[in-house]
Amino acid sequence: MAERRGRLRGAAWAACLGLCGVALALLAAVLVRAYVLRPPPCPRLWERGAALGFQFSARDRQELKEALRGAIRIQTVSFSPEDQNTTALAEFGNYIKKVFPAVFSTKFIQHEIIGGYSHLFTVQGSDPQLMPYMLLAHMDVVPASQEGWHVPPFSAKELDGFIYGRGTVDNKNSAIGILQALEFLLRRDYRPRRSFYIGIGHDEEVSGHKGAMKIAALLKARGVKLSFLLDEGSVILDGFLEGIKNPVAVIAITEKGSITANFSVEKEQGHSSAPPKETSIGILAAALSRLEQNPMPNLFAGILIIDVSLFSLVGLINLILTFVIYIFYKYKTPFKNLFSCRILEQKPSTNALVRTTTAITLFNAGIKSNVIPPSAKATVNFRIHPSQKVEEVLEIVQNTIADDRVKIHLQEAFDPLPISPWDNHAFGVQIFRRTLLDVFPDVSSVAPGICIGNTDSRHFTNLTDAIYRFNPLVFKPDDLPRVHGLNERISVEGYEKQVEFLYQLIQNSDINKLPEPHANSHEL
Ligand SMILES: *[C@@H]1O[C@H](CO)[C@@H](O)[C@H](O)[C@H]1NC(C)=O
Ligand SMILES: *[C@@H]1O[C@H](CO)[C@@H](O)[C@H](O)[C@H]1NC(C)=O
Ligand SMILES: *[C@@H]1O[C@H](CO)[C@@H](O)[C@H](O)[C@H]1NC(C)=O
Repeated sequence: MAERRGRLRGAAWAACLGLCGVALALLAAVLVRAYVLRPPPCPRLWERGAALGFQFSARDRQELKEALRGAIRIQTVSFSPEDQNTTALAEFGNYIKKVFPAVFSTKFIQHEIIGGYSHLFTVQGSDPQLMPYMLLAHMDVVPASQEGWHVPPFSAKELDGFIYGRGTVDNKNSAIGILQALEFLLRRDYRPRRSFYIGIGHDEEVSGHKGAMKIAALLKARGVKLSFLLDEGSVILDGFLEGIKNPVAVIAITEKGSITANFSVEKEQGHSSAPPKETSIGILAAALSRLEQNPMPNLFAGILIIDVSLFSLVGLINLILTFVIYIFYKYKTPFKNLFSCRILEQKPSTNALVRTTTAITLFNAGIKSNVIPPSAKATVNFRIHPSQKVEEVLEIVQNTIADDRVKIHLQEAFDPLPISPWDNHAFGVQIFRRTLLDVFPDVSSVAPGICIGNTDSRHFTNLTDAIYRFNPLVFKPDDLPRVHGLNERISVEGYEKQVEFLYQLIQNSDINKLPEPHANSHEL
């Protein structure tokens, strides 16, 4: 069960990036153009910014690397919602106290343990008028078998400039990276103007109900409203699309929804010597086969509709034209196929971007080789496209199956997440762009994306409508399968950049209000 969940989530996460990988990179590619048409704020107008710079010393770099390696060695594995390594979760709490002494001894920072093992830090800014923001991460990891790894998965061994281990990119890099950035800032006598929260969940890999959900409920009870929230969920893509030389930062502004449903057929038990025309197994198998043969509608247009709100009319026309021309030029596809976006249907990872997906994950039936089975049961997991809702999907499922003998019982169901703001007035987005510009000069553009997996951030919709999923890590195509897979790793340089990004992001967020948009070709 735990393994299955792990693998499922793994596939989801990989697909989350995979989607970004191809389809989003395609979108991203055209967004590059769209951005040029809508100039973002001028950097000179930023009243504060790199106040402290981010030139870390050799000693700082050694320290930050060792802090991450130490955290990787703690086996904070989530096997299932009921089965987590609680010894390791508790050890993680002691560990961060030891390696980040300034964070734990600063008067304007309050630390609380939530749900037994999760951590909430409240960093009190000097200006209470400014609306706080939140940085979210998680300390738990999916299981890792010893086989197939270059080095043992919890050894945190360094090889050729990479630290290997479960959790190096999902997501101890964020959990430790955020605290590390804050620790460095505090040691340089920094006090933020804008308050912020740091949430580190302990059960993200198995739903987040005990950690993130409780943190969100507590903050809500305290009346907290956030200007934005940043969690994991997408990355900087490098080398995913021919013709796009520079890396593209994809920031996910929504997440797919999900339905897990049980399907069952009950029939009278009997002897196999006088079988009925149809058995429970036959009926259920036929119903499931109809679901597989009739995929949910291709909703690629839905993505473009989402984008309408993001761009000016000129930007949108430009986006569509560029996309159409690009696909036509590259794939020489007839226009009919083009508009139904068949290209994106061809690979599972991009297919997941254009529709609600259907995955039959469990099938159980039969009790004996000469007995007509009294019942057949199956479980199906649907991942809902942002332009559909749970009810619509269930209606399509019922119409497709079209057989009253098949009963449906919902195990879990939630709608896709709301779409976060994405424009020149979206505070979080401008902070990310500013910070990317500071720390990743090679990144040529920033594009909104859809995360097809799920993150802890989905529990925070009552606190803000500005939820963004982005990890400041450069991913090449072969990095995708490492997430939840074999040989998960982070480059030492990549982790330094992540800490620099967070260090800079905290300072950039101190700005009172965003500068007015201003034409400047150096902006993203
Ligand atoms: C749980 O974590 C502890 C501490 O990291 C480790 O010693 C132990 O082997 C882990 N147990 C399992 C079942 O993973
Ligand atoms: C659905 O099926 C699973 C696996 O057989 C079972 O554990 C679960 O209790 C079922 N849930 C419902 C609502 O029928
Ligand atoms: C938001 O608040 C409502 C009302 O208290 C609650 O029912 C709902 O579960 C909350 N949403 C989330 C995602 O926690």
